[in-house]
Amino acid sequence: MTEREAQKKPRVAILISGTGSNMLAIIEACKSSALDAEIALVVSDNPNAPGLAKARDAGIETVSAVYERGVPREKNERLIAETIKNKKIDWIVLAGFMKILSADFVKQFPGRIVNIHPSMLPAFPGAHAIRDALEAQADCAGVTIHIVDEFVDHGPILAQEEVPIQPGDTEESLAERVHAVEHRLYPKTLQQLFHEDI
Ligand code: GAR
Repeated sequence: MTEREAQKKPRVAILISGTGSNMLAIIEACKSSALDAEIALVVSDNPNAPGLAKARDAGIETVSAVYERGVPREKNERLIAETIKNKKIDWIVLAGFMKILSADFVKQFPGRIVNIHPSMLPAFPGAHAIRDALEAQADCAGVTIHIVDEFVDHGPILAQEEVPIQPGDTEESLAERVHAVEHRLYPKTLQQLFHEDI
């Protein structure tokens, strides 16, 4: 590898479905050089995701990849996979992307997809982890950042942090504290991962 190649910033695609607050935290970390990476693309399965407009405001190219009902997952993922390959993306970062990726998709990018999940995995996988932790009267919610394998909310764990549940917590109050941890931990962990410190 030449010195120039070694200095090249990793090219990242962020996949979102909604608000995009983790996406924004990652974009901000790139701006401040806390994260040495280029966010080259933001993809959403939801064309109305508020995060898409925020990405465009930040000058980042966006793609909507709307999933058609009754169509195999692999077919719905084709536009995402092709765009990621065309744009020569190094890392795929899931930030509130609420579609399950097929094993076929994951195999195309082995060890190159990262996810954040609002629980101490393997506790409370799925789409409503914070609500599930409250309903189970657990002691804590949490944040897990992991490499994505072919199973849901599963794969080698890169970082985890507990978020204690306090008396009187609602889904909103707990989610706010979980998000605060996510916004700090995701950019930091990505920096370590991309630059081989973990
Ligand atoms: C985050 O809390 C993330 O951990 C969660 O969705 C939220 C997205 O928020 N992801 C999952 O539950 C994945 N199973 P954001 O759009 O504001 O970043």
